[in-house]
Amino acid sequence: MFVACRSLQAVSKVVPSTVSGIQRRLLASMSSANKFDLPDRYRGSEKSVWVEYIQLAQETQPLNLGQGFPDFAAPEHVTKALAEVCTGENVLMNQYTRGFGHLRLVKALSQLYSKLIGRTINPATEVLVTAGAYEALFSTIMGHTGPGDEVIIIEPFFDCYEPMVRAAGGIPKFIPLKLVKPSGSGPVSSGDWKLDVDELSSMFNSKTKSIILNTPHNPIGKVFTQEELTVIADLCKKWNVLCISDEVYEWLVYKPYKHIRIATLPGMWDRTITIGSAGKTFSVTGWKTGWAYGPANLLKNVMTVHQNCVYTCTTPVQEAVARGFELEMSRMDSPECYFYSLAEELLPKRELMAKFLSDVGMVPTIPEGGYFMIADWSPLANKVDLSQEVDKYRDYKFTKWMSKNIKLQGIPPSAFYSEPNKPLIEDYVRYCFIKKDENLHKAAEILQKWKGSN
Ligand SMILES: Cc1ncc(COP(=O)(O)O)c(C=O)c1O
Repeated sequence: MFVACRSLQAVSKVVPSTVSGIQRRLLASMSSANKFDLPDRYRGSEKSVWVEYIQLAQETQPLNLGQGFPDFAAPEHVTKALAEVCTGENVLMNQYTRGFGHLRLVKALSQLYSKLIGRTINPATEVLVTAGAYEALFSTIMGHTGPGDEVIIIEPFFDCYEPMVRAAGGIPKFIPLKLVKPSGSGPVSSGDWKLDVDELSSMFNSKTKSIILNTPHNPIGKVFTQEELTVIADLCKKWNVLCISDEVYEWLVYKPYKHIRIATLPGMWDRTITIGSAGKTFSVTGWKTGWAYGPANLLKNVMTVHQNCVYTCTTPVQEAVARGFELEMSRMDSPECYFYSLAEELLPKRELMAKFLSDVGMVPTIPEGGYFMIADWSPLANKVDLSQEVDKYRDYKFTKWMSKNIKLQGIPPSAFYSEPNKPLIEDYVRYCFIKKDENLHKAAEILQKWKGSN
């Protein structure tokens, strides 16, 4: 195309009167096609599982257990706070607020995390409020990745990590969690998915800039143990590497498991940026409010990206989230505290889903945290006809076939793997269980009916 443009331009210079209007328009459209192509740094990131599966759900109208959000009400004190803030007497609550985070919210976050991390966190320099954890990830990755920097990503991974690293000019280096329990040897727990320590150690080198950790993990539900985190921390210290710790599901941990913040491990505060989400904490994913906290020297870069991109987040939402935190912090010793009560509420939902998936013949991985469950559907392979599905990977074919024919939607987990490793997870599907009981029971009925019809 470039050659064609050049020759048309040459013609127009030599014999301008002979170039027709059509040729001129063709010339213009050809050169603008090149000019407005997607920049190279975003090549390969055009496809999004969320865009594709939201569209699929609109077309096929399934019971949707795909995307990770609750279909029940958020805590009333938080939603009421937002309504009051917007309509209250302080009209400035509807205007711009401090760019790095509304004062009341950064104060609440510093108070909370000072207690949890065991050190005083400065609200002005060590906390940044962002447009969801998504933006915290973006600003952290952009602010700490240069061309050629290697970033270790544990697979499966929340799907935006890879394109963000690539857009920053970094080189993602993938290491998959491996299921260490042999098939057919009883129920599988997310703790059975492990990092190979030797493989992980071999990935660190002088070019390694950072590692992205996600605990509790989406989609496996793994809650990294003290021992596992110590291995990661020791490697970070040995190779002078930053740890970007995505902890959006920090409160969604099922007893007896405990969420450990890697920033609390010896020597790790100085090299960790931790990311959280009000959407996940208070079941208000549509509020898209998140944060990053860490030492001022590391957070400075993140703030620079934020100030040149989003600059400031929504004032009333931040005020309402701050009030929500203040209330929950005042009752952290009580089981009523939402930080704990949500996981208690979700536990029976987790059990229900594990049961109905097992009953139909799938092999679920029981999550220690988060609100997703992956399940091996390969025992049902003879009950599906995937011959008409055109996707490359079997998990895409299976989930699409299920949405169209059985009217139950899940997410293909190969979306959370790098291209070479996608085949590792083709036999799995991811479902979300932060849904009303009635919808989980409907899912159980749909699957039972399907089982009976075979
Ligand atoms: C692991 C993980 N990180 C980050 C996010 C983004 O969170 P937010 O909605 O606050 O942007 C999600 C959302 O699903 C997630 O699962």
